[in-house]
Amino acid sequence: MTQSALAGVTSAQPGRWCVRIVCILALALLTGCEQVNVQSMFDPAGPGAAEIDGLWWLMFWMGTAVYGVVMGLFLIAIFRRQWKEGDDVPPLGNTGFVVTGGAAIPAVILVVLLVFALIVHFSVAQGGGSVSVEVRGHQWWWEVNYPEHGIRTANEIHVPAGESVHLELTSEDVLHSFWVPQLHGKRDLIPGDTTTFWMEADEPGIYRGQCAEYCGLQHALMAFRVVVHPPEDFDAWVAERQEPPPAPEDSLLQRGQEVFLSETCVECHRIEGTTAQGTIGPDLTHIGSRLTLGAGIIENNRGNLSGWIVNAQAIKPGNQMPPTSIDSDDLHAMVSYLLSLE
Ligand code: CUA
Repeated sequence: MTQSALAGVTSAQPGRWCVRIVCILALALLTGCEQVNVQSMFDPAGPGAAEIDGLWWLMFWMGTAVYGVVMGLFLIAIFRRQWKEGDDVPPLGNTGFVVTGGAAIPAVILVVLLVFALIVHFSVAQGGGSVSVEVRGHQWWWEVNYPEHGIRTANEIHVPAGESVHLELTSEDVLHSFWVPQLHGKRDLIPGDTTTFWMEADEPGIYRGQCAEYCGLQHALMAFRVVVHPPEDFDAWVAERQEPPPAPEDSLLQRGQEVFLSETCVECHRIEGTTAQGTIGPDLTHIGSRLTLGAGIIENNRGNLSGWIVNAQAIKPGNQMPPTSIDSDDLHAMVSYLLSLE
C-alpha cells in the first residue's frame, strides 16, 4: 500500500467511525420509537405491575440520590486541594463522618428499601379468583386451558378486565418463565411442578407476554398475547369457544378438512369434533380466531399460515413442526378450512 493510500485510510477512519456510531445510536433510538409501550413494565396496566413499577422507581431515585451524593463527595475530595491555599489541607471527614456516611445512612436506606420491597412482595402475592387458567410451557409455545370452562387454546390468554385471574403454571419440558410486563412480574414454569400466580388488567386491550427464562434455541420467539375483554364480552368469548366448530358445508372447506385429517397434522394437533386429537402441538379448534401464529411471532393470515404449514422450520428453526409436502390446491383448501375455524 502506498503512503498516500495509507494516509487516506487513516484520515478517513475517524470520520467513518463517527458515522457508524451515529447510525447505531439513531437505529437504537428508532427501534425504541417502534417498541414504546409494546411490552414495557414502565407502562403498567394492572395493579400488580403498578406496584412493581412504583417499587422500581423508588429504588431508582434512591439509587440516583446516593450516586449523586457519593460523586459529589468524590469531586470535593479531588478538587478541594486546588480550592485551598497551601499544602496543609486537613483530611476530609473523620471517624464520625465515616461511620455515619459509610454505615448508618446506608443501613437506614437499605432498611427502608427492604420494608417497601417486602410490602410489595406480600401485596403482589395476593390475588386470583374469578377466572382460572392453566398455562403449560412447551419448547416453544404456550398451551392454555380453562378447566372450569372446558376450553383449550394456545399462545393467547383471554381474560375479563378488572378481574383477578388465577394462573396455574407448569412446563412440559424445560424451565420457562411467564411474564406479561404490563400486568405483573415473572413466574417460572417448572417441569413436574405447578406454580400458582395471578394477573389483572385494568382496561380491555392486548398485552404482549414473553418467556423470561432461557429455554433453548427459540426462547426469544416464545411470545403470547393476553387479550383483555370487557367482562360481558368475555362471557361471549367463553360461550363461543365452548362450541366445537360446525362441520364445513362449503365444498372447498370440506376438501380442506379431508386434507387436514388425511395428513400427519392429526398426530400432533387437535380439532374438537373431528378425529384430530393430537396433543403434541397447539390445539387448533378455533385457530381461525387467533391473532398470531408460531407463539406470537407472525400475524395469523392466509399467507403466513400457508408458509407455516409448508415449512415452519424456515420461520422458526428447531420447532417441532416438520415441513409438509402438499400441492397448492390442497394447501389452499386446508388453509381456508383452518381459517374458517373461528
Ligand atoms: Cu420458554 Cu424461554
